[in-house]
Amino acid sequence: MNVIFLGPPGAGKGTQCKVIADRYQLRHLSSGDILRRERADNTDLGQKAQSFMDSGRLVPDDLIVAMMMKEINAADTNSGVVLDGFPRTIGQAEELDKALNAAGKDIDVVLCLDVDDDKLEHRITGRRSCSGCGAAYHITFNPPQVDGICDKCQKELTQRSDDTAEVVKNRIKTYHDQTAPLVSFYKEKGNLKNVDGNVAIEQVTQAMCDILDRVST
Ligand code: AP5
Repeated sequence: MNVIFLGPPGAGKGTQCKVIADRYQLRHLSSGDILRRERADNTDLGQKAQSFMDSGRLVPDDLIVAMMMKEINAADTNSGVVLDGFPRTIGQAEELDKALNAAGKDIDVVLCLDVDDDKLEHRITGRRSCSGCGAAYHITFNPPQVDGICDKCQKELTQRSDDTAEVVKNRIKTYHDQTAPLVSFYKEKGNLKNVDGNVAIEQVTQAMCDILDRVST
């Protein structure tokens, strides 16, 4: 099963993808996480992506498509992948379709997490991530047991450099301008499922599993 997660910044894509990938034994490929790894390793791609990410703009399609197709092809795709944050433009979606079709594969379902804009900024500025295992927390909605420390691996929790109020506004605008058109794109293809992302994390997970259980049987 190949699944795409769509949704604005802070909608809960990363949070849900980790659980879904684990439950359905899918490979979780997050374009944002891969870009952050490239930046941490100071690669050519990481350097090129830096100014786009820091200002809340999208990294150019040619760089992203090449990066993600390499990851998808390298993934053990026997059970499938869950794509988190990719595609994010119509151009990226068309390139993904072409590459999957050439390999005799397809996207089974696109899960679109709908969250009201006024909730997104609070979710993002309160987000903390584990510097060790990458687990996501929120200082209000999903706090760690010990302040600033990961429950799972006891490493320090950090805040992303693009999680400031100013950059978040740009990221939300970029989503509406460039990524939201994908909702109609996948609706026309007939594989889009909307999920209410305004409710508690566990309720969102349950709604997604209900959909995926139907798709996978
Ligand atoms: P990326 O890392 O993909 O960031 P994003 O899309 O902005 O999404 P986020 O990671 O901020 O949010 P999320 O939906 O994963 O939310 P989360 O689960 O963490 O991209 C970063 C940058 O890289 C982009 O700006 C761009 O420059 C570049 N990039 C990446 N992909 C690209 C592409 N394809 N093309 C071009 N450029 C690309 O949750 C957020 C917080 O809310 C957490 O603290 C969580 O605990 C909490 N939370 C989650 N769910 C709930 C809930 N139901 N109730 C309450 N709190 C919740």
